[in-house]
Amino acid sequence: MKEQVMLTGVRPSGNITLGNYLGAIKNFVTRQSLYKSYIFVADLHAITSPRDPEELRHAIEDCMAMYLACGVDPKQTVMFRQSDVLEHGVLGFIMTFQTHMGELSRMTQFKLKSQSSAKNGIDTGLFVYPPLMAADILLYHTNMVPVGLDQQQHVELTRDLAQRFNNRYGKTFTEPDVYIAPVGNKILNLQNPAEKMNKSDGQNLGTIFLMDDLKLVRRKIMSAVTDSETVVRFDEVAKPGISNLISILSAITGECIPSIENRFAGHGYGDFKRAVADVVCDLLEKIQANYRRFKNSELLDDILNNGAGQARLIASETLNRTKRVLGLR
Ligand code: TYM
Repeated sequence: MKEQVMLTGVRPSGNITLGNYLGAIKNFVTRQSLYKSYIFVADLHAITSPRDPEELRHAIEDCMAMYLACGVDPKQTVMFRQSDVLEHGVLGFIMTFQTHMGELSRMTQFKLKSQSSAKNGIDTGLFVYPPLMAADILLYHTNMVPVGLDQQQHVELTRDLAQRFNNRYGKTFTEPDVYIAPVGNKILNLQNPAEKMNKSDGQNLGTIFLMDDLKLVRRKIMSAVTDSETVVRFDEVAKPGISNLISILSAITGECIPSIENRFAGHGYGDFKRAVADVVCDLLEKIQANYRRFKNSELLDDILNNGAGQARLIASETLNRTKRVLGLR
């Protein structure tokens, strides 16, 4: 019987990127046999800003098929859609009331995203999604949350909220730890290595999507912005572009950074980029073949129904306990 619980989720907003895979999904997949594991499609998080419903429906299905294509095993992992488990909404509401305005205002993701959407007004969803994320995590007594660096602060807030709640009302929630992979936790935009690789930057060559045509992937990597040196050396400050490509190579193959530096000593950037492109294309070719197998498969519905049932059992128990300690029943 596995006692420790691991959970993660991805917002179904556009295609999944290499950053999502290396920062979160891969780390989940390699650990899923060690934990009681839960992975979900964070669809409530996708409506923090208005979305086209048909497009969202497809994105949710895609996300689920992509989890399977990346190696999530439904025999080992409970896979579900967040909106199928209503307890997320209710506990999210309760956790919002446990959270200080100052805590939410300090969230880096809120500061970044509210700047870019400020012209049309800032959606409240952008402000209050961290307590919903806390609910996602706390409902399942999660011990370990593998995420990329950009979500670390939200998992830390979850820990603070759990602690505050437990101190006030008695032990109700498990305080989760975040798992940040040592390499690949912040994959950068290939065209602008000052920025994170983002789903929303699909128009340029800076973001690699897992479903990109492989020729395009190669083109994106070969045209990645580097620097005026010719040395393949890891230095995130002076050489963010090359360091990003080294991180991608290392995160996929497991080869350590010094070994990559040695292997490419005396080689130009062209050789190095070709090697990165080979490894990325190899990985994506496998994922894409799997994806085609799972997309539109009847298996998806079965997995989702079964997963929602299992998730509800635990989530309703936690929510009932939370309501009881609050005096709500
Ligand atoms: P989302 O959908 O923005 O991203 C999904 C996961 O991918 C990671 N990630 C990256 N990692 C490395 N490099 C990048 N360039 C990169 N871009 C994204 C993210 O850190 C994340 O782990 N709020 C979350 C979804 C969520 C969740 C949860 C996660 C909702 N509830 C509970 C864990 C636990 C989000 O918007 O992730």
